[in-house]
Amino acid sequence: MLDLQELQARALDELANADSQEALEQWRHAYLGRTGELTLALRSIGQLPAEERPAAGQQANQVRQALTEGFEVRQAAVNEAAMAATLATDALDVRLPGRPQTLGHVHVITQVLRDIYGIFRQMGFSVFQTREVEDDTTNFQLLNMPPDHPARDMWSTFYATTPGVLLRTHTSPGQIHAMRQFYPDPFRVILPGKCYRYEQVTTRSEHMFHQVEGLAIGQNITIADLKGVLEHFARQMFGPERKLRFRASYFPFTEPSAECDVDCSICGGAGCQLCKHSGWLEILGGGMVHPEVLRNGGYDPDVYSGFAFGMGPERLALLKYGINDIRLFYANDLRFLQQFG
Ligand code: DAH
Repeated sequence: MLDLQELQARALDELANADSQEALEQWRHAYLGRTGELTLALRSIGQLPAEERPAAGQQANQVRQALTEGFEVRQAAVNEAAMAATLATDALDVRLPGRPQTLGHVHVITQVLRDIYGIFRQMGFSVFQTREVEDDTTNFQLLNMPPDHPARDMWSTFYATTPGVLLRTHTSPGQIHAMRQFYPDPFRVILPGKCYRYEQVTTRSEHMFHQVEGLAIGQNITIADLKGVLEHFARQMFGPERKLRFRASYFPFTEPSAECDVDCSICGGAGCQLCKHSGWLEILGGGMVHPEVLRNGGYDPDVYSGFAFGMGPERLALLKYGINDIRLFYANDLRFLQQFG
C-alpha cells in the first residue's frame, strides 16, 4: 500500500528547503517529473484492487494538487528573493540623469586657419593646397635661392635619404605650383599648410608649424594692393584697435620685401618676453613677387606683376589669445586645448 501521506509530507519538507532555481528544478524532477515519485505512484494505482482505486485516485490527485501549488508558491518566493538580492547589490536608479557623451572640438590652430580662410575669402582668395614633401628645386631654387645661397641658412630643414627631397620649410614653393597651374590667368590664392624647420625649439619656434601663404598675380598689381589686403586682414583678425607696421626687409623671392608686425597683445606694446621687449610681434613677410620667380612660374614679368606674403597662424593665435609659449599648441595638454572649445 502506497503511503501518499508520507510522500506529501516528505516532498513539502524538501520543498521548503529549496532556495534556488536549480534546487526547485531538481525537486520538480524528483516528484512531479515523468519518472518522479508521485507520477510513478499515480501510475501504480491501476494495479490496486478495483475497490481501492477510487479512494487512492482521489487521494493521489489531492497530493498532486498540494505539490503543484506548493511548488508554485515556493518558486514565486525564490524568484522574489533573487530579485531583492539583485536590487540590493546591482541597484539601477532610473531617476539618475543620463551621462552625455563629451564632444570634442577642433584644435585652436584649425580654428585660426578657418578664420584666415574666411577673411581672405571675402577678398576673393581661394584655398590652394600643395605638398609638404618638396624638392630642393621648388623649395629653394625656383624661389631664387640657388645652391649655396646664404638665405638658405634661415630655412634649414629635414632631408630625406633620397637626394634633393625635403620637408618644405615654408609654403612659398606652393607659389610655383599655383602659377604653373593657373598660367596665363590672373589669380588670387592662399596656400595653407604645415612647414618644418631644423632649429632649436623655443617659446617662439617649433619644428613643425603652419603657414598661410598668399599670392595674387595679374596685371598692374602694386604694393599698395598688398598693403590694403594685409591691413584689411589685420583689422578683421585682431579688431580695429590693433596697430600694424611695415618694415623694409629682404626675401630672395620678393622685391621689394617687407615684414609686417602687430603690436603685442600681451604687453600692449610696453615690452615683454613674448615680443622680446620690442612691443611688436612679427606676423608675416611679404612683398612683390620677384621677376625671376614670376618667370619660373611661367609669367612674363614685363606683362604681369604680383604680390605674395607668408604668415604664421601659431603666431596669430599667440597674439589673439594672449598665449606666451608656442609649444603649448602641440604638447597635447587637454587643460590647455579645452580652453578653446
Ligand atoms: N617664406 C617666408 C618664410 O618662411 C615667408 C614669406 C616671406 C613668404 C615673403 C612670402 C613672402 O610669400 O613674399 O619666412
